[in-house]
Amino acid sequence: PDGLDDAGYASGMKRYHLTTFGCQMNEHDSERMKGMLESLGYAETPTREQADLILFNTCSIRESADSRFIAHLGEAKRLKRERPERVVGVGGCWAQSIKEEVFERFPFVDVAFGPGQVHRLAEFLTSDAITAQGYFEFEGFTGHLPARRTRPFQGWLQISVGCNCACSYCIVPSTRGREVSRPPAELVEEVRSMAADGVREVTLLGQNVNSYGRDLPTRRPSAGSAPQGAPDRVSFAELLGLLDGVEGIERIRYTSPHPKDMREDVIRAHVELQSVCEHIHLPLQSGSSRILKAMRRTYDRRRYLDRVALIREHVPDASLTTDIIVGFPGETEEDFAQTMEVVGEVGYDSAFTFIFSPRRGTEAAGLTDGLIPHPVKVERMGRLLELVQRDALARAQRFLGRTLEVLVEGPSRTDPERLRGRTRHNKVVNFGGLAAPGELTDVQITAATSQTLSGEERLLARARAS
Ligand code: 5AD
Ligand code: SF4
Repeated sequence: PDGLDDAGYASGMKRYHLTTFGCQMNEHDSERMKGMLESLGYAETPTREQADLILFNTCSIRESADSRFIAHLGEAKRLKRERPERVVGVGGCWAQSIKEEVFERFPFVDVAFGPGQVHRLAEFLTSDAITAQGYFEFEGFTGHLPARRTRPFQGWLQISVGCNCACSYCIVPSTRGREVSRPPAELVEEVRSMAADGVREVTLLGQNVNSYGRDLPTRRPSAGSAPQGAPDRVSFAELLGLLDGVEGIERIRYTSPHPKDMREDVIRAHVELQSVCEHIHLPLQSGSSRILKAMRRTYDRRRYLDRVALIREHVPDASLTTDIIVGFPGETEEDFAQTMEVVGEVGYDSAFTFIFSPRRGTEAAGLTDGLIPHPVKVERMGRLLELVQRDALARAQRFLGRTLEVLVEGPSRTDPERLRGRTRHNKVVNFGGLAAPGELTDVQITAATSQTLSGEERLLARARAS
């Protein structure tokens, strides 16, 4: 009688369940998928069992990503068998990497689409399609879909899609296509509307964010399309300047830059622009120039360390994080020792470390010489992790006794009585306090592990002291 069914949904309302794998780009694509589905009248449900539409947004960056996803797909298969009118959809990089083969390998899948084709899911769902459909072209930015943000005060802004690099280990250029930058005026407009919605922290996303803008036209295609208040083509550093000017945006982050494009103007933006945070993620991949060359990273150890020196000179307190691959084909003990040396020299605040895995269609997957046995990779990884942890712990000590601005994200995961937030350096802080999610508050830091900081909101600490 109240028009709701057993589970509390409006009767007749379709329900979806979406699982996301992979990077922040994928999480953002998923937010846009959710926004799109909700505008089509679908409601999210917490279990696959209840869903009329079971979706996966997949990743293919490493072998482990593939196998995690395939384990989940098994449940979708069973549920589809139980109720064949259910729709199973697979989007993202894994789907793109095998395209139509998705349907051969997993015949119960109804729709598959690459990361550039998120909007085509709506087309499929609203059509009377009776056969499975795959959408895998590259069309640049995938339409303007409303995002349903996980946290209302944090937003993602996709500034470019695709990647023009040719890193020999990486599947991304083949799953996300050539680099296409979005026009600056459009980005400024989007951030203005995010700010109006209550977003305070924006993370700019791109496969190689700081090569942003190089593909944009130098002159406007037609006078009629003159954007308001922004030129047609700007560099990444200039884009940071334009976005910093948007009222209401307190923090700007970006990921990931490529060391080859980490120019002085970008580094200076961290000092000159109030909202640009003191954190730079600078993927190293290897500390050996020989391996970097085989990886086609286009910088060597010296140039990487020069970038780091420039960062330290301009933004001495910045936190630096990185990605490192262990066990690339041909990596000798000497090459690995050089990686350890660079890591020791830089002193990262944290690092993501990966064991090399060959990816379909990549150049490195074809290398047959100098393959590193798995136990050797694991052993090297162990040594690297130990060093990374030690550095992270040592670096974190510099925050002890300081008062840091924290953006409150919600309750602490370990102790619901406490709060959890993030500093401008991108450190997670668990703290005692009264601030609400979305607020910026000052927290006095009293303890630091390699992973997290802890402390107390300054107002509370003061009250207690007096
Ligand atoms: N094997 C292992 N790690 C990889 N990465 C990318 N491709 C591979 C691969 N084939 C790592 C890189 C990259 C991060 C996102 O994933 O370090 O920066
Ligand atoms: Fe992201 Fe790369 Fe995984 Fe695609 S393959 S989801 S771009 S990490």
